[in-house]
Amino acid sequence: MLELGLVGVGVMGLRYVKAASTDPNAHMAALCDLNAAAAKDVAASYGVPAAYDSVETMLDKTELDAVIIATPDFAHRGPACLCLEAGLDVLCEKPLSTSVEEASEVVRTVERTGRKLMVNFGNRHRLSVQRMERMVRAGALGDIRYAYMCLNEKAVKTATLPWADRTSPLWFLLSHVTDFLTWIIDQRVVRVYAANGKIGTSPDMVTTAALLTFENGATATLESTWNTPEHYPRDIDLRLALQGSKGAVDLDMGQQGLVLAEETRSGAIQWDMTEDQTDPDDWWNRSCHYFTRCLANGMTPAPDAVSGLRTTMVLAALQHSLDTEQAVDVAALFPEASELAYSAMDRA
Ligand SMILES: NC(=O)c1ccc[n+]([C@@H]2O[C@H](COP(=O)([O-])OP(=O)(O)OC[C@H]3O[C@@H](n4cnc5c(N)ncnc54)[C@H](O)[C@@H]3O)[C@@H](O)[C@H]2O)c1
Repeated sequence: MLELGLVGVGVMGLRYVKAASTDPNAHMAALCDLNAAAAKDVAASYGVPAAYDSVETMLDKTELDAVIIATPDFAHRGPACLCLEAGLDVLCEKPLSTSVEEASEVVRTVERTGRKLMVNFGNRHRLSVQRMERMVRAGALGDIRYAYMCLNEKAVKTATLPWADRTSPLWFLLSHVTDFLTWIIDQRVVRVYAANGKIGTSPDMVTTAALLTFENGATATLESTWNTPEHYPRDIDLRLALQGSKGAVDLDMGQQGLVLAEETRSGAIQWDMTEDQTDPDDWWNRSCHYFTRCLANGMTPAPDAVSGLRTTMVLAALQHSLDTEQAVDVAALFPEASELAYSAMDRA
């Protein structure tokens, strides 16, 4: 049984405590939060044996095998590096970091310590997304030439996020589709351009549109907003559409359907995705249990730190494009990080 620690007992931290309670490979042994009272409350409510007010104290006082980091987007590097240096494996919430320098530091720490770090882009564990991935890997679409993806949430979501003014649809939401896109297309993003539609100053009043070009010439259009109307039928509006040389696939969480056009079929088929609808926590538990199962079996869970750095580089380049209103060459903007993120791919 793996002894787990948790850093951060907010919205996602609670989900990790619950996921650990049904994990056959792990036991939540300790948790910590800068808010010591919150840490104690959660530990008492869910039977976690130890609660602390800092990562350092938790590492000092409790023997652990791995730690889950569920702090805000901008506060992942510090706890992640401390845990890696302490010889522990890490499951880090998405995105790995909002800074390319910090994400690079995490990658170097992983390399130096030889520990494992998985970035939890939980949407990879939705059954419908996994089916779509298998379909693409099996060659049903041929070479991917174009992708359209969006992830939107309701404006009210930001009211429950205490650090909403320190994130944006780009970092909070588009990080998911950027991870999915680079996972499925498996090509380097070379050039990006992004623009914001903006009403007022609140982060929930921003809509981001982005254009990405891959090294093989494939392109993608991504969109994200926290402006979905309150009475929209789904809290999460996620659409992943891919067009290839042989076929196309369009997964729409909003419509709960998937349309597939293959080379050998004249029409499109409708794919029911009720499993995601009826038990929204299932995909979440799967992502947590996948991490501990990999560790228990000596496997390296994905996406790893290098993958997390690649996603952060794309997002930071998009942020630079928003700031400068210019198209951005990703490798030219981040030469050292590009070397770190792609050296293995370049050598292959
Ligand atoms: N809220 C969501 O819907 C959602 C969904 C998917 C992923 N995530 C990701 O999960 C992460 C956490 O988000 P959240 O919504 O749970 O945030 P949250 O604000 O609810 O919780 C974060 C917790 O971390 C604690 N914390 C901050 N710095 C700390 C430190 N150095 N040491 C110990 N504790 C610290 C805070 O006190 C707080 O209790 C983010 O990276 C976010 O992008 C959130």
